[in-house]
Amino acid sequence: MTDNLAEYLRQPLKIGSKSIEKRLVLAPLTFLGNIAFRELVSRYGGYGLLSPCYRWRDEERSQLVCQIFGADPLTMANAARRIESEGLFGVDINFGCSNATICRRNCGAALLKDPDLAAAIVAEVRGAVTFPLTVKFRIGWRDDPAIAVRLAQRFEDAGADALIFHPRVAPDRRSRPPKWAYIGMVKQAVNIPVFGNGDVFDRDDCRRMIQETGCDGVALGRMAVARPWIFAELTENIQIGPEMFMDAALQLARLLETHYDPVAAIKRFKRFAFYFCANFCFGHSLYSGILKAGDMKEVDTILRRFFEKVPDLSSRPNMNFFS
Ligand SMILES: Cc1cc2nc3c(=O)[nH]c(=O)nc-3n(C[C@H](O)[C@H](O)[C@H](O)COP(=O)(O)O)c2cc1C
Repeated sequence: MTDNLAEYLRQPLKIGSKSIEKRLVLAPLTFLGNIAFRELVSRYGGYGLLSPCYRWRDEERSQLVCQIFGADPLTMANAARRIESEGLFGVDINFGCSNATICRRNCGAALLKDPDLAAAIVAEVRGAVTFPLTVKFRIGWRDDPAIAVRLAQRFEDAGADALIFHPRVAPDRRSRPPKWAYIGMVKQAVNIPVFGNGDVFDRDDCRRMIQETGCDGVALGRMAVARPWIFAELTENIQIGPEMFMDAALQLARLLETHYDPVAAIKRFKRFAFYFCANFCFGHSLYSGILKAGDMKEVDTILRRFFEKVPDLSSRPNMNFFS
């Protein structure tokens, strides 16, 4: 990478039969990566791909990757076919989620215990579609980089076009730092693009992850929720002002009201607020106020009151702070 991070992130990257314009992508975030949130992110721009999605706007199809999980190769292949027919950019297979409900059904990260079945799913999906196929995965269930490297090679051999690697063992709920060094090992072991993922909070983290691991791109999760303009900030060097925080939160409130009924809208806003409030030194007071709000009008009032004074920003948002 040259010294210029933004320039690097703006270099197109080939993924299978297609290309993306920016090497910074949104990691899948259940509930949070919803249609309203993505519309907000699209107003700032600066990303290569967005994910996941079950409802979308027509104009975003070409930059959407829909993530699927499941344990049956044929069902997964059918799902992928359906996604391809919708004209989306690609499909992503979830071998990363270690949520107990998912793992109990032998889906998500549980499949990393059964590399033969995981590879069979990738191969079956590959045979069913021609559009880009990506795989998101973790280290495995033991902290050994050799496991991740072997999995990566098997996914490549089975026909994956790119990998999104979150270097934590499966049961780890983000309590310990991800092992970025393993991203470098996975990258060395395959010939398809590798996106690094995990604990990238700012420009410096992003630069370090790319420099230390040689990864081809970066997938951002929680930080994209806290600062929906972060893609534009890193790839286009847009200027960030204190007014952007209230403005983004109010824009999201309006977009949620447009796309959802009032109950669903406020539920989603509260999930967003968990990460958004971590931006501020006294964010917990804002968060508890929003949690108690009965409707979006009340949310607006709470936001406007909080931002009457320019809030102090945490130097590094603590995303586990409220849990
Ligand atoms: C609320 C939430 C929902 C998530 N949902 C998914 C999901 O549906 N699929 C998936 O592969 N990963 C999911 N993840 C994991 C993220 O994609 C990502 O790997 C993780 O947050 C680490 O990246 P970050 O440090 O940039 O947040 C989720 C994470 C969070 C915090």
